Amino acid sequence: MSIAVQKQKLYINGEWREAKSYTELKSPYSRETIAEIPAATEQEVDEAIAAAYAKRQTMAAMPAYERAAILERVVEQLKERQEEAAKLIALEAAKPITTAKGEVARTIQTYKFAAEEAKRVHGETLPLDAAPGGENRIAMTVREPIGVIGAITPFNFPMNLVAHKLGPAIASGNTVVLKPASQTPLSAYFIAELFEKAGLPKGALNVVTGSGRTVGDAIVTDPRISMITFTGSPEVGIAIRNKAGLKRVTLELGSNSAVIVDEQVDLNRVIPRCVFGAFTFQGQVCISLQRIYVHENRYDEFVEKFVAEAKRLKTGDPLDPATDVSALITPGDVDRALSWIEEAKQGGANVVLGGERDGNILLPTVIVDAKPTMKVSCQEVFAPIVLINRVRSIDEAIALVNDSRYGLQAGIYTDNVHTAWKAAKQLHVGGVLINDIPTFRVDHMPYGGVKESGFGREGIRYAMEEMTELKLIIFNEN
Ligand code: SIN
Repeated sequence: MSIAVQKQKLYINGEWREAKSYTELKSPYSRETIAEIPAATEQEVDEAIAAAYAKRQTMAAMPAYERAAILERVVEQLKERQEEAAKLIALEAAKPITTAKGEVARTIQTYKFAAEEAKRVHGETLPLDAAPGGENRIAMTVREPIGVIGAITPFNFPMNLVAHKLGPAIASGNTVVLKPASQTPLSAYFIAELFEKAGLPKGALNVVTGSGRTVGDAIVTDPRISMITFTGSPEVGIAIRNKAGLKRVTLELGSNSAVIVDEQVDLNRVIPRCVFGAFTFQGQVCISLQRIYVHENRYDEFVEKFVAEAKRLKTGDPLDPATDVSALITPGDVDRALSWIEEAKQGGANVVLGGERDGNILLPTVIVDAKPTMKVSCQEVFAPIVLINRVRSIDEAIALVNDSRYGLQAGIYTDNVHTAWKAAKQLHVGGVLINDIPTFRVDHMPYGGVKESGFGREGIRYAMEEMTELKLIIFNEN
């Protein structure tokens, strides 16, 4: 698809504004310029925050049915513009078009859940006379919007991870200043247009692009912002945590997710899922399958079948419906991934598939005999690279999965209920998947990690808890 180079505008206080300077946005696949992206100045970021701050009482006072109706109107428009939305994602992120369509379908779900949950923001009553001195008193809790939310989103799900911030924020009556990833801002501006048409009050959503220093730092440090919700790398997440002061912060960071394969499972069922988990969107998913631990009795068969299945993947143009794997987000990421593969080879690991580039595409890569200390194992690769490791027991596999700075999701395939339960109890992660890969996610489930994978949970209802304050009200009958 050829696309006219679009000059994007900032979205501040309900107005689309020209910027003083622009940067070129390039297709990760072809490296052609696809858009010019505005670089907000400090003054413009300040105006975006001021607009969100001024509108917070309007949003807090808006009845739940109106917040729900705005979100429903976003859903309706997105349904009508699904094809266009998917092409935008494919173009700016090099996400294969079939996968991009899946992301749009999920985004619709995310906003639908937000519309539904907008009507269910409630607290509870507490009998205070359960404690001596609490006689004749009853308490209730209510949830109030936290205020202005600073949302900083990543490139890998440019529409649905924006929805995971905007959906719960608007559903619970907050206002937002959004800084989308600099590699994939078009999807975020597209969504802002849908909110504008859906009747969201001017200033309740502001979208500003530009450098991390000018835009990101201002959002993280401004006292008018009450909460930061960030998805991205641990390095940036830790820096945000250190600068945010007393703001509430939720961080959804990286992982080197793993799955364990027990000896008696049906590999014909397991392997296609594992290939999907390792290579969907070029492995650029926080819950991409990076480490596979297979019981030694099935190891050779697993490697052979896995490689045969992975060889069927088609690489190429993200806009071609036949493409399974396309370009990494930047050429520098291909260089980095290749250098990590080289380090693994030098250390004695064997590359049994891929390990090479084709332009900006890193071919699906399978590595065996990697040591836990190698970067391809202990860091988040965010590339189509998967390790298959032999284990003698499930206990050994659990220990290896847990031997990580990360802990987002992990999976285990087993037919033994005791083994499944043991793994569920012992895996130190935010979510355990029994008989599935860690890459599984639907948008209402609680999603988040432990250790350097971050803290706080997404999944609309859970994010809304993070985005609201619990207020206690006590009635004294006397
Ligand atoms: C992520 O990469 O953090 C999100 C994964 C997903 O939503 O499937």
